[in-house]
Amino acid sequence: MTTDLHVVIRNQHVAPGILRLTVDGGAAQPVQPGQFHMLKTEAPEPLLPRPLSIHDVEGDLLSFLYEVKGAGTRAIAELVPGHRIRVTGPLGRGFDVQDLRGRILLVAGGIGIAPFRYLARALVAAGRDRLTLAAGFRGLPYGIEDFAGVVDDIRIATEDGSAGIQGRVPVLYRPQDFDVVVACGPVPMMRAVQQGCREAGTRAIVSMEARMACGIGACLGCTTQTTTGMRRVCADGPVFPADEVIFDER
Ligand SMILES: Cc1cc2nc3c(=O)[nH]c(=O)nc-3n(C[C@H](O)[C@H](O)[C@H](O)COP(=O)(O)OP(=O)(O)OC[C@H]3O[C@@H](n4cnc5c(N)ncnc54)[C@H](O)[C@@H]3O)c2cc1C
Ligand code: FES
Repeated sequence: MTTDLHVVIRNQHVAPGILRLTVDGGAAQPVQPGQFHMLKTEAPEPLLPRPLSIHDVEGDLLSFLYEVKGAGTRAIAELVPGHRIRVTGPLGRGFDVQDLRGRILLVAGGIGIAPFRYLARALVAAGRDRLTLAAGFRGLPYGIEDFAGVVDDIRIATEDGSAGIQGRVPVLYRPQDFDVVVACGPVPMMRAVQQGCREAGTRAIVSMEARMACGIGACLGCTTQTTTGMRRVCADGPVFPADEVIFDER
């Protein structure tokens, strides 16, 4: 893990409120799909960096796909080519590509699609050829074009019916049709994946989100309840076997 100032190469909207940031300098060390970096602009506020998943690593370029939510992501969205941004990482435990085999389903909810481009490319590079992506969005989809020619089956659901099948992402698949399901998205979606896979006897893996202050396992601000006790999403995860996670029922 290193902290470096990277130069912004591109920072473009791919949809309203969704941008792709590309910085130079690549990753300081090999990046596992599903790992993340902590990003902080040179502006004094907000003080704390924000975690973003690795969207892709291509040659010397590192990219992030992100949704503008509050002050931190707004500050990142204001960057233009030539600006610099402090990037710390890679952090956390990502997906074990060697351990994902057979019929693999990637389930994305909204911006949860961000880590799947790099994961899908890594799976293809490892010889996995039965990849399905099921992605759900509230409105018009984004980031899907990144999967053309990488994933052989792309399924889309939108809540407003503007693309694909109208409804939420579980309408797109039957867990029993897959050997492993990998999910990233809002908690209700991941809870549905956990439950559906449990009933079908299909292995499931989730990438969790949490508010993070340090990103390196020191502050305990990101802990989540699991069957093996409280675990730090930043250092013990963000990727966990779905069955270990105890989702808050609220
Ligand atoms: C490991 C990890 C990887 C992530 N990868 C991505 C990514 O690739 N792309 C992306 O767009 N986002 C990603 N996120 C979420 C992203 O870090 C937050 O959206 C961001 O930190 C919000 O900061 P902000 O200052 O813009 O908003 P804030 O002002 O901090 O918050 C705005 C609103 O978003 C809510 N919020 C903030 N952070 C989170 C969170 N972690 N989980 C749930 N709700 C939150 C707040 O409660 C508030 O309502 C990731 C989070 C984690 C933990
Ligand atoms: S963010 Fe500090 S322990 Fe995870």
